[in-house]
Amino acid sequence: MTTVADCRLLDLPEIRDAEGSLTPVHGNVEVPFDIERVYYLYDIPAGASRGGHAHREIEEVIVAALGSFDVIVDDGSQRRRVTLRRGNCGLYLPRMIWRELVDFSAGAICVVLASRAYAEADYIRELAEFRRLRGSPADDA
Ligand code: TYD
Repeated sequence: MTTVADCRLLDLPEIRDAEGSLTPVHGNVEVPFDIERVYYLYDIPAGASRGGHAHREIEEVIVAALGSFDVIVDDGSQRRRVTLRRGNCGLYLPRMIWRELVDFSAGAICVVLASRAYAEADYIRELAEFRRLRGSPADDA
């Protein structure tokens, strides 16, 4: 099963010149899956958090195209917090990883490359269900 150690940072190409930077991304080249969908988050109010779910099958790569934010990843046993702040750096999230996106800078834009079309049935939106499916140790709290 996937772990937070599989949530690796991907170096994306950056074509930089005096007029700015450009990052091309291809499925199965820079990212390890076919890209079927792209979506982006913007107009994010101060203090907002996004995510708060895992995907049963969908894989994603998350990029801070503008500004910065943190991604907290959780495999049911371990948590890791990763700061994204460059348009040429992507965080790969395999299937069955809980993620929360927090601490967005003002005006941040988050681009997400996804392996499949949107399907609500692919989401696990309850942390308790996620932990049960992952066979996490019982929470004594
Ligand atoms: P959600 O994935 O919960 O957002 P986030 O993880 O960024 O907090 O999606 C928010 C809403 O948008 C939800 O009603 C589903 C819808 N949605 C789509 O219709 N298509 C998509 O590709 C995505 C990602 C979400």
